[in-house]
Amino acid sequence: MDKFVIDGGLALKGQVAISGAKNSALPVLAACLLTDEPVVLHRIPRVVDIRTMQKLLAYMGAAVTEEGTNTVRVHAANISRPEAPYEIVKTMRASSLVLGPLAGRFGSAKVSMPGGCAIGARPINLHTAGLEQLGARILQSHGDIEASAPDGLRGATVHFDRITVTGTEDLMMAAVLARGETIVENAAREPEVVDLANLLTKMGARITGAGTSSIHIQGVEKLHGAEHEIIPDRIEAGTFVIAAAITRGDVLVTGCEPEHFQSLIVKLRQAGVEITEPEKSVLRVRAGAALRSIDATTEEHPGFATDLQAQYMALMTQAEGIAIVTERIFENRFMHAPELARMGASIRIEGRQAIVAGPRRLSGAHVMASDLRASASLVLAGLVASGETIVDRVYHMDRGYERMQEKLAGLGARIRREKSNA
Ligand code: EPU
Repeated sequence: MDKFVIDGGLALKGQVAISGAKNSALPVLAACLLTDEPVVLHRIPRVVDIRTMQKLLAYMGAAVTEEGTNTVRVHAANISRPEAPYEIVKTMRASSLVLGPLAGRFGSAKVSMPGGCAIGARPINLHTAGLEQLGARILQSHGDIEASAPDGLRGATVHFDRITVTGTEDLMMAAVLARGETIVENAAREPEVVDLANLLTKMGARITGAGTSSIHIQGVEKLHGAEHEIIPDRIEAGTFVIAAAITRGDVLVTGCEPEHFQSLIVKLRQAGVEITEPEKSVLRVRAGAALRSIDATTEEHPGFATDLQAQYMALMTQAEGIAIVTERIFENRFMHAPELARMGASIRIEGRQAIVAGPRRLSGAHVMASDLRASASLVLAGLVASGETIVDRVYHMDRGYERMQEKLAGLGARIRREKSNA
C-alpha cells in the first residue's frame, strides 16, 4: 500500500492538463456491451476504476485492447458470461452499470449487489425499479441481482423518486434497445449523462433531452460500432483549481470544460479567488489576497458537486470567517473532517452540516484517506500545511485521479509516493 509524503507551504505555479472524466468513461465502457461491433474510446483516464471496468468487460468475454496511452478498443462480439461477479463489484460499485446494457441486449443479466461504502449506503433500488418498469423481472438472491427479459424490454415512462446519476445512465442503456419509447423523468443532468448519450447516439441510438430532467429514448433494433472522445474530468479540474487557490498560486488549468463546474467557479470567485478564462478550455487561477468564507450546499448538477465538497472544505479552513458546508447527496461524506482537524482545522459536524471556522494554520500530520475525494482534500491540506503531511491509503486516490502526484509535482509541489505499512 502506498502513501503520499507532502512537504507543504509552496505556492503552485505552472500549467496542468486535465484528463478524461472517470465518471464518464465508466458508463461509456459499459455501453460497449450494447453492440457486437468494436467501439474505440479516446481520452480514457488510466486510473484503477477504469482498469476494473475493463477487467469486468473482459471477464464477460469482450475483447478489450489498450491502444496508445489513453485509447481503448472494446469489441463485445462474444459475451459468454453476462454477469458481474462479487470479486469485481466489491472493489467498484459502478460495476452495476453493466446491468442495463446486458438486460437490454441479452435479456439477461446477473450483477452481484454492491454493499455499503464509506460515503453512504448507496443502494441500487432505483436502477432495478426502472428496469422492472421496462418489463424486466428482477430477482434478488444470494447477494446477486438477476434481471431477465426473455422477450426483450419494452419502453415505458420511468419517474425516478430521486435523482440518480448511474441510475439514469443504466436505464438509458437498457432503453436504447427496448421496443418503443422510454421517457426518463427526474433524470440526472450531469455532463457525464450527456457524454454517454452522445456516444449512444453515434452508435445509432435515438435519444433526445439528455442534460435535461426529461430524457426521451426511442428504442432501435441494433446498435453499431463508433469512435468517441471522453469529456474532461470536471472533478479533477475543480480539484486543481482549488489546489491553486489553497496554495495562493498561479496556475493554468488546461483542457477543461469550465461550463461543467460553474457552481464551483462562482463560489471560488465569491471567496476571492481570481479565475479567468484566457482562452477556450483554459482557466487561469490566482489567489493572492485573503480568502473569504462562503457557504456551500451540495446538489445534483448543475448545483455544487458532492465530489468537490471535501476539497472545498479544505479550502475553507484557509478562509476568513465561518463557512457552512452542507452535504445533501450522501449521508456520510464528512470522513475527511476529523482528519483535517488533526492538521489543525476547526470543523464542527452537526448532522449534514460542517461548520468550518477559518483561517487556521494547518500543520503537517499523518492522516488517513477514507475515499477518493476525501484523499484529495487531505492532499490539498497537505500542500498548504507547514512541515510534512503523510496521506495514507493512496489507493483511494489511484482509483480516480490520473497521475495526481506527477501533475502536482509538475506545478512545483513537493510530493512523493512511498510504500506504507498502514
Ligand atoms: N440512491 C438511491 N437508490 C439508487 C441510487 C441512488 O437511494 O438506486 C441514492 C444514493 O444513495 C445517493 C443519491 O441517491 O444518496 C445519489 O446517488 P447517485 O445514484 O446519483 O450516485 P452514483 O450514481 O452512485 C455517481 C458518481 C459519484 C458521485 C455521485 C453523485 C459515478 C461512477 N459515480 O454515483 O462519484 O458522487 O454520482 O454525483 O458516476 C466519485 O467519483 O468519487 C463518486 C463517488
